Amino acid sequence: MGNGNIPIALITRDPRTQRWMGLMRSHEPGLYQHSLHVGKVVTDYTRFCGLAFETAWPMIEGGLLHDIGKTQLPPALLVKPRALNEAEQRMMILHPAFGAALLEAEGFYTKPVIAIVKSHHERLDGSGYPNGLHQSRTAKSVRVVAVCDAFCAMTESRPYENAWPNERALERLRSMPAQYDGAVVDELGGMLDAREHGWQSAEPMVEEPVDVTSKVKRHRGLLHPRSAFFKATYPPQ
Ligand SMILES: [Fe+2]
Repeated sequence: MGNGNIPIALITRDPRTQRWMGLMRSHEPGLYQHSLHVGKVVTDYTRFCGLAFETAWPMIEGGLLHDIGKTQLPPALLVKPRALNEAEQRMMILHPAFGAALLEAEGFYTKPVIAIVKSHHERLDGSGYPNGLHQSRTAKSVRVVAVCDAFCAMTESRPYENAWPNERALERLRSMPAQYDGAVVDELGGMLDAREHGWQSAEPMVEEPVDVTSKVKRHRGLLHPRSAFFKATYPPQ
C-alpha cells in the first residue's frame, strides 16, 4: 500500500509529538522550524517513493523529532553566529544521545524512531557520531533522515551562511557518496524535481499551540550532567 493519503497532520496532532514540538518551539524557534522542514521533506520523500504507511510513519516521526536532544543544550549554542569551538562541539555532539534518552524514557516511540534520533549524524563510512556506525549498521530510515536533515540544513539560511538553492545542496550531497546514501539522494532529487513540475506534496504542517507539560520538563532532569544517565553514558575520561 502506498501512503499517498497520509495526512501529516495526523502525526503533528499526536499529543506526544505535539508536546515535543512545543518544547522545541519554546526552546529555540529556529530548532522548531528546522524540525518542521525536515518532517515535511521526509513526508514528501515517503510519498514520492510510495512507501507503505508502516514504513513511512516512523520516518516522519523521526524526521520531526531527530533534533529533540538539542532542547537540552543552551539556546545560545544553537544560534551561535560563528563556528563552534572545541568545548561547544563536545556539547553539541551529545544531542543524538540526549534525544534518544528523552524518547526512551517516555516509552511511547518505537525503536525505529529512536534509532533515527540517535543515529541521524552517523555516516556511511563510519565517520559520523555518536558511535561511528558504518552503513551496514544503520537502517535505511536512518539514512533517509540523515540525507533530508543535511539537505534542509543547507537550504535554510543559517547564522553564518545564506540558504543554498536546492540544486547546490543536492550536488554537495552527491559529492559525498562515502557519507550519504546515494540512492536516497537520487530519490530526494527525483522528488524535488517532481515537486517543481507540479507534483502535489504534503499539505502544510499545522501549527498547534505550545503545550509543554510537566512530564516533559521532568524528563530533562535525566540529562543533567550529574544524573545517573549522563554519568553512565559519558563517564569522565
Ligand atoms: Fe542533529
